Amino acid sequence: MAELRIPFFRPAIDEEDVAAVAETLRSGWLTSGPNVREFERELAAYTGARFVNAVNSCTAALHLCLRAWGIGPGDEVVVPVYTFSATATVVVHTGARPVLADVRESDANLDPEAFERAITPRTRAVIPVHFAGEPCDMDAILAIARAKGIRVLEDAAHAIGSRYRGRMVGTIGDATAFSFYATKNMTTGEGGALATDDEELSERVRVLTLHGMTKDAWNRYDAGGSWRYDIVEFGFKDNLTDLAAALGRRQLAKLEQLTEARTRAAMRYFANLRDEPLLRLPAFDAANRHAWHLFVVRLDTERSPVGRDEVIRQLAARGIGTSVHFIPLHYHSAYRRLGWQPGDFPVAERIFEGAISLPLFPSMTDAEVDAVCEALREILHPRG
Ligand SMILES: Cc1ncc(COP(=O)(O)O)c(C=O)c1O
Repeated sequence: MAELRIPFFRPAIDEEDVAAVAETLRSGWLTSGPNVREFERELAAYTGARFVNAVNSCTAALHLCLRAWGIGPGDEVVVPVYTFSATATVVVHTGARPVLADVRESDANLDPEAFERAITPRTRAVIPVHFAGEPCDMDAILAIARAKGIRVLEDAAHAIGSRYRGRMVGTIGDATAFSFYATKNMTTGEGGALATDDEELSERVRVLTLHGMTKDAWNRYDAGGSWRYDIVEFGFKDNLTDLAAALGRRQLAKLEQLTEARTRAAMRYFANLRDEPLLRLPAFDAANRHAWHLFVVRLDTERSPVGRDEVIRQLAARGIGTSVHFIPLHYHSAYRRLGWQPGDFPVAERIFEGAISLPLFPSMTDAEVDAVCEALREILHPRG
């Protein structure tokens, strides 16, 4: 297929990013080392969280946190049905059971009432997902969770830099997982982090991240470091490399600019598509700061002369890349085997039916946003 005129996503990598990685390659320190430690400190300073653990994915951050909390067989964790599979897969891998809950029609975020209904005496945690970068209703979710002694682990894969009523995402629930995957608001290629104010949790995650080795063993290649280490429990191999952290530090330094550029493109979509009767534009709360990871419009499938899949096909034929976030979890065969079936989560199903994620990336020009909007109008209102 020919290269897309306007891709769904274009990475924001500049020469300073390239130089930072090259410098790290020359430094001789490739795996977790000084850049990882600095990256953790800088992420803590940016988010306002007291402790940050850098790891090799958001999936790892979510998994390690649940493990560190001792969640396992016999436990349940509530997960919104409108998310990427990783949010629930990690629960399965602990031996606990994910319990799916429906989302809100307005913003596709976890519906606090659906969360409350999903609670049983076995519920140990909930994982709200800040869909597209718009924070969940954390006051309501926290109030329900606190009343029942349920821990709150935020999936902020889309939401680094988001603010909820003035508070940075990363400082709200008991712990918050971020993603630095290639397409995310800032990237390390593959990478993630867990932010928390809980020192004990952070220390436990640090040990589990690298084989279950004692903390001291982390420094075993430093001058004066000892070759001796102890495996205190059966851990994983989820550490971030210094190469990735070098890129992450550069990306973090320009994250505010990247977010502003995303916000400008999103606002241009709003201005341009405001009067389009067949599209519902994303809802957001002016009291929050949206990170604009995604710009997801909803096609009015009842009134549109063309279906969602056909709109996507025709956009691709015009050289415009799109995606769909998300296929509700209960539509996947692995989840059906856990007992769910289509019809179980009507709100998520309605949202999915019309959802189209439009191109959105920091270097997107006004002309590119306008071209996407023009193409949409041509497709939705064919002449003659
Ligand atoms: C909502 C959500 N959670 C978790 C993840 C997993 O992130 P990672 O690829 O860093 O493990 C993603 C990735 O796309 C995501 O969209």
